[in-house]
Parts: sequence; C-alpha cells; structure tokens
Amino acid sequence: SKRLGILTGGGDCPGLNAVIRAAAKTAYAYGYELYGFLDGYTGVVEGRYIKLDPPAISGLLHRGGTILGTNNRSDPFHFPVQEGDKIVYRDMSGRAVELLEKLGIEVLLVIGGDGTLAGARDLKAKGARIIGIPKTIDNDLAATDQTFGFDTAVRTATDALDKLHTTAESHHRVMVLELMGRYAGWIALYSGLAGGADVILIPEIPWTVEGVIRKIEARRAEGKPFSIVVVAEGARTPTGELVVQRRVEGSVERLRLGGIGQLVAQMIEEKTGIETRVTVLGHIQRGGSPSSYDRVLATRFGVAAAELAIRGIHGVMVCLRGNDISYVPLEEVAAQPRTVPIDHPLIRTARAIGISFGD
Ligand code: F6P
Repeated sequence: SKRLGILTGGGDCPGLNAVIRAAAKTAYAYGYELYGFLDGYTGVVEGRYIKLDPPAISGLLHRGGTILGTNNRSDPFHFPVQEGDKIVYRDMSGRAVELLEKLGIEVLLVIGGDGTLAGARDLKAKGARIIGIPKTIDNDLAATDQTFGFDTAVRTATDALDKLHTTAESHHRVMVLELMGRYAGWIALYSGLAGGADVILIPEIPWTVEGVIRKIEARRAEGKPFSIVVVAEGARTPTGELVVQRRVEGSVERLRLGGIGQLVAQMIEEKTGIETRVTVLGHIQRGGSPSSYDRVLATRFGVAAAELAIRGIHGVMVCLRGNDISYVPLEEVAAQPRTVPIDHPLIRTARAIGISFGD
C-alpha cells in the first residue's frame, strides 16, 4: 500500500505523540500506511522503524514525550559513527534518502525544532520529499505563530510560580525561578505574567542589578518583604555573559556552572540582605501530559501534514498563521529564532501592572 513516514527529532516536548496519532489516523483514513522512524534521523540512517498501525497509536493523545524516541545528535549530515574508541561525524544523508526510496516512503513527516528542520531542508535539497512540523516548548520558531508544547510549559512554570509564592510569602524571601528559553523569553514572559512575578529577566532586554533591586526594595517599602523573580536561562548577565549553554557540532553542550538563576539570586541577596532561594525548573517544563490547547494544535498539525503529503505537496512546513493552519517552504524555516520584540504588547501589559524587566 501507499506509505508515509514520520520521525521526532531534537528535544522532546508535550504533544509529539498527539501529532503522531493524528498523522497516523489521517494516513489510515486515506488508505496509507505510516512508518515511524526511531530516535530521530538515526532511525532513517540505520533503517529502524515501526509500523504505526491503529493498535500502535492507541492511548497516545495525552501521553508526554514521544513513543518514537528522539536524539539531539542525529543530524544525517554530521552523523555520529563509532570508530574504534572514538566518535567521528560522517555525512549519511545519501543513505537516508536511499532508505526512504527503498521503503517506498512517499513523504517523510519530520517533527522538530530549528536543528531538525534545518536537516529537513538540506535533505529536501538532496531530493527527499519532506514535510516539517514545528515543535519546541520555547515558541521561538520564526515561521509559525505558535508551537505546540509551549502552552504546557507555560502551565507547568505558572504552577511552579504559584507554589513558590506561598513559601516566599511565608519566609519573607526572594524566590528566583529559572526557566527554559535559550534564545527567547516567551516562557518567562507568559508564565511571569500568569504567575504574578515581580521581575522578569529575558534574553531580549538587558538588565542591571540596580534595576532588579529597585523593584524588590520598592515592594519592601510597601510592606511586602517577599518577591518573585523569573529568569529565562538565556538571559545574559549584566556584563553580557551567557552562562547557560552553547551548541557544539549539532548538539547542545551544557555549561551549567550554576546557571543564570543562581547568579541573579546571589546578586539579590548580597545587595538587599533578603534571604534568596533559587529553583531551576529544567526539564520538568518539557515533560508530562500536553494541555488541551497543545493537544488541539498538535492534532491540527498532524492532520494537515498528512493531508498535504497525500495531496502530493511536500518541501514545506506546516505552521499556524493567526488561527489558521498554513504552510511555508522549508527554506524559510530555519531562520533566526523568533525572539520577544521589546515593544511586544505583553511587555507593555506587564510594565503597566508594575512588573520590572530589570532595566
Ligand atoms: O529547545 C528546547 C529546550 O528545552 C530549551 O529550552 C533548552 O535550552 C534546551 O532545549 C535543553 O536541551 P537539552 O535537553 O539537550 O539539555
């Protein structure tokens, strides 16, 4: 029978399974089979896949993570191969394209973020028929208004802020919450607003210690000796340093020597004398069951991608434009990350209610 393929690449994110399920159901409704490649592009290079027939996709909608597995280091153009006792990187893209042909995969659906979609664009240039589906909790992909996973991450972060609030208030402390967001402060901005943060530090807005302290001292003067500070992991120090991580050879190497949250907390405690604690929420933001919003968006993306493939359209990425699902050429996808504009309406809303960005 006719056949499509699907894979999940890069970091996982709530809603991946919902996309897989929707694509599989759509494919089967049109008389297609769907093959799920395991561990990102690795499964395509190594020929490892499962058939996503109806029993295989049962019970997937609410499940976090990805049943296909994923791999941050599986770029087919720089593919890690064990040689003796070391790992070398080889161009395996030719083999990936051949395998897709051999298996009779008409179109490969690639669910991923910037790195995975850049791989999709380059495989397209080598003749592979691909449809991209945008994914990241960071919500920082340029070609779509929103990614699934973001809403769930914001809910998780908001829940953490609610919990930090009660203990901050009881102990008259400053609580610093470090959130994900390498390049963009979307999670910090949305959850900071939803969770009643007093200060929000994001990569897009340079801040100073004085700026942060001013807000905390103003609250103390009003009789509120506790404060909540949200910091995106990609926020820089006042001297412009990045303490979070950097990309090395297609993968992410963590340089988490304390992290930006730790640094901010230390500065606050030193300058105000108020006891300060830091929480790094980390991968909790990526785990768990997707929110209803993310399930709906993931389902829309999965259906749209499978339908496009079946109509013979490929070389594009599905995206959200306003309230509609649309698509853009893959070449337009892997542009610069979509960061928070400093005059974004939500920044103005936050400032209007007295939230400080430390500037
Ligand atoms: O892009 C998603 C993301 O969760 C970022 O927010 C974070 O910086 C990064 O991935 C973490 O990557 P890893 O799971 O490889 O440590």
